[in-house]
Amino acid sequence: MRPRVLVTRRLPGAAVAVLEEHADVDMHTGERGLTPAELHDRLHDKQGLVVLLGDRIDAAAMEAGPNLRIVANVAVGYDNIDVAAARERGIVVTNTPDVLTDAVADYTWALILGITRRLGEGERIVRRGDWKGWAFDFMLGSSVAGKQLGIVGAGRIGRAVGARAAAFGMSVAYTNRRPVEWAGATAMTFDQLLATSDVVSLHVPLTPDTRKLIDQRALARMKRSAYLVNTTRGPVVDEAALAWALRERLISGAALDVFEREPEVHPDLLALDNVLLSPHLGSATRETRLGMADLAARNVVAVLGREAPLTPVQ
Ligand code: GLV
Repeated sequence: MRPRVLVTRRLPGAAVAVLEEHADVDMHTGERGLTPAELHDRLHDKQGLVVLLGDRIDAAAMEAGPNLRIVANVAVGYDNIDVAAARERGIVVTNTPDVLTDAVADYTWALILGITRRLGEGERIVRRGDWKGWAFDFMLGSSVAGKQLGIVGAGRIGRAVGARAAAFGMSVAYTNRRPVEWAGATAMTFDQLLATSDVVSLHVPLTPDTRKLIDQRALARMKRSAYLVNTTRGPVVDEAALAWALRERLISGAALDVFEREPEVHPDLLALDNVLLSPHLGSATRETRLGMADLAARNVVAVLGREAPLTPVQ
């Protein structure tokens, strides 16, 4: 009997074709995501599940799919999946590392340059028709050359962001939960990094330890001239605290690609000009999304074929 796989959102045809070679595929193609009840209902006869980061896969979902052998997340972050509950049930969980590293690192730099050079503000001025013409002291931003980029989380993406810093003349400092080597970058404690960096860029996964890592206390330690950039998960930053810090000019600016309650954005942030807001686009290139979907599909095929998954989560 061919195994059955549920795919919770429309994925590129090439990835679906990989699945269809080995399994019967039930792909949800509706505009909105499946409700938990709909998801549970469609899971009862499935051995494989391909999900996106908006799908919460908890113990109840796994109970609804008693034959599940793999949950393949089409994302590198997997805070949407209860990995402990999966482990208890012998369900493999996979994610999509590596294939999105460059896309997210590039996008992080788009945000670093965008906020330090006030790109969002400038665009709004032009669109509003408020631009009066070139002026010597108009909308001055901050140079990055000669400054320190502080990377919080020296994993694949953090390192790829740091690797691009030399091209912009920035030095790199980093902090990591456990000590790791990084040639050419300076290891620091979290507090040291906050106090000395001109740009602080977040690259830690969302875990109970990193939830609200950037709170009032952390923001108050940053330089008044510094910028915060978040391309990981929204809840790593306390948005209310960030809005306070930006309003009080405790830091110069922030660029956020992710939010605590997506797609909602804290209303206090929406009212501020010194924050660049972007709708969770870090890995959003056609090439990268194809790579992510393909990797998720190949993980499912491997596990259902009783082979080792390519990229299991730890
Ligand atoms: C995107 O946010 C991802 O985790 O891949």
